[in-house]
Amino acid sequence: MISSFKKIDPKDFEGNVIQKIGFDWMLITAGNSEKFNTMTASWGGMGYLWNKPVAFIFIRPQRFTYEFAEANEYFTLHFFDERYREILDFCGTKSGRDVNKIAQTGLKVFASSRNNIYYEQSYLQMECRKLYFDDINPEHFLDEKIIRNYPKNDFHRFYIGEIVECIERY
Ligand SMILES: Cc1cc2nc3c(=O)[nH]c(=O)nc-3n(C[C@H](O)[C@H](O)[C@H](O)COP(=O)(O)O)c2cc1C
Repeated sequence: MISSFKKIDPKDFEGNVIQKIGFDWMLITAGNSEKFNTMTASWGGMGYLWNKPVAFIFIRPQRFTYEFAEANEYFTLHFFDERYREILDFCGTKSGRDVNKIAQTGLKVFASSRNNIYYEQSYLQMECRKLYFDDINPEHFLDEKIIRNYPKNDFHRFYIGEIVECIERY
């Protein structure tokens, strides 16, 4: 690991997860250092399930990142200071099918010991091993207003991943 990061216990990072995911946003990356893709996400969560620290993410099937999330055992999550908002805007409005997000944003990549992707600019990152997936089932909405989020019937696939490593910049 590069020298400006240290491993921490996932239960020890500071800050509120609703603020971090919902309002500061995160990048989700899947793949490995040979081939990967990243996208911005503001829906998801973290918690404790099956006696493990976990993160859960929601990816619509048309995202390029979906293909990488499907094909790989791990995904990584990355949080950024406000000064990097432009990078998150870019990665949330452009597809890796059309642009090279890494070249265009200047994100600096380094690999985890498992060959998953981290970024030097991120202050907090998690490496997650997929434990479970499912697709949002339209028949299971108990509040019909929520289904308005899916005018194209592009129901998210969600993944629950065990947080196997958490690193923080110091
Ligand atoms: C603030 C913000 C939050 C987003 N959250 C999600 C999300 O949680 N799930 C999702 O599937 N797409 C989300 N998106 C959309 C993807 O980031 C966007 O479609 C991106 O271009 C996909 O890139 P890709 O095709 O390279 O995977 C979000 C976009 C923005 C700007």
